[in-house]
Amino acid sequence: MSIEPITAFFGLWDMIKGMEDGKKAAQKLVIEGLGHKRVLSGEISVCGAKNSALKAFAATLLFKEKVRIENVPHIEDIFQMEHILKDIGVLINQEKDAYVLDTTSQISSELPRALSKRLRASIVLTGPLLGRNGSVTFHHPGGCLIGARPIDVFLEGFRALGANVSMKGEAYVLTVPTGGLPGGEFFFHTQSVTGTETLMMAAVLGRGKSVLKNAALEPEIVVLADFLNACGARIRGAGTPTIEVEGVPGLHARGNLFETPPDRIEAGSFLILAALTASDIMIRDCEPRHLESLIYLLKIMGVSLEVGGDFIRVRGGDGRYKAHDIKTHEYPGFPTDLQAPMAVFLTQCEGEAFIFETIFEGRFRYVDDLLRMGAHLRSLDQHRIMIKGPTTLSGKELESPDLRAGLAYIIAALVAEGVSVIHNVYNIDRGYEHIEERLSAVGARIKRVPE
Ligand code: EPZ
Repeated sequence: MSIEPITAFFGLWDMIKGMEDGKKAAQKLVIEGLGHKRVLSGEISVCGAKNSALKAFAATLLFKEKVRIENVPHIEDIFQMEHILKDIGVLINQEKDAYVLDTTSQISSELPRALSKRLRASIVLTGPLLGRNGSVTFHHPGGCLIGARPIDVFLEGFRALGANVSMKGEAYVLTVPTGGLPGGEFFFHTQSVTGTETLMMAAVLGRGKSVLKNAALEPEIVVLADFLNACGARIRGAGTPTIEVEGVPGLHARGNLFETPPDRIEAGSFLILAALTASDIMIRDCEPRHLESLIYLLKIMGVSLEVGGDFIRVRGGDGRYKAHDIKTHEYPGFPTDLQAPMAVFLTQCEGEAFIFETIFEGRFRYVDDLLRMGAHLRSLDQHRIMIKGPTTLSGKELESPDLRAGLAYIIAALVAEGVSVIHNVYNIDRGYEHIEERLSAVGARIKRVPE
């Protein structure tokens, strides 16, 4: 099937969404292209991981006390999650990049439809809420339109662990028998990051033992399990394909706080950006061991990297990079969230390469805009594109289709000749804190202006 109908559908939907978000994101980024010159230099510090902090916020529902979460990025997705949690009764205080969530009082079991529609990650709340209250009512979540993003795995998983799943109008209603979630065994027919996190948290306060097979292996899941275990949970095997959870009556923070790990996707995005635009950039406060697949690929494609314990130094030099096929894969394979930035990288490499996007079916919505900028791309089907480089990109007006493609557009605009304007900056602000300030600090000419 050609990609066009899918792109058209998502494009239309996004226009509608964009209008909705427009109220909030009436801003654009104006970026002056460097025209192939690799001149950026200095240091970029990586923020806390969006896809870890969001789940830590959800995990506070397993407690009935104050829980402190540190190194939280100041991004739109966190603000959305904050709105949802406040709406159901959580008291939240922010102290710079730390948040204190107080879940002592009664928490509603009804997730707000409109707020949840704006954040796919809201689905993670269903697990801890079911564990805490014995019931939860929610609607199909929204979020980035990078694919259909069904929730069948969640519903099948809840049933396998002994919950009852029914519908009330358009809402899903989950309930557990008296005494709590009985527990059970569930095999993920497809590895799911949030599915693993949600069911793992649902089982923490359950009555019996739960076994999750073919679980996702992301490092953020290990960090979450370690924190919950420090507070009294009994989770074994996080980070392996089989996670076992013994239900416990309750959790207690006991002075433990959740330290959000560095955002590996942000670090990887900056690595790709630096390889194309920097003379010498130090990416600090990151976890290179969470980026092995990207580091390996960039090195064999000719990028000069110095990898330390918590930093990666990129020296752009003026060498040509060699194209290499990319296949996205569940962790520790090449992350789908770095696929769009890598596509921009490949437009600047010598030779032809495939990108095989194995995780999502709608994650090439940036193709038309890169073609307009002058890239040589060919869509083969909804999972594969072919890129031929190197090509000179020229600055254009762009509309960021989703969170990760938005960052890819910033990279493309910096590599291009001439000026680019990126609209719908809300999508970029969803995942990258103060992006224009951080890139300006290493010499990029990028500014945020009202639409
Ligand atoms: C998480 O999404 C991340 N989001 C995504 O990051 C990331 O791209 C993705 O994992 C894959 O790494 C958060 O953690 C908040 P999945 P998630 O469930 O959990 C299919 C970003 O930009 N599937 O692992 O929603 C699904 O359609 C975001 O930060 C089902 O079929 O992704 C996909 O093809 C984008 N049924 C595959 O599994 C289900 O019930 C993997 O999706 C659930 C998922």
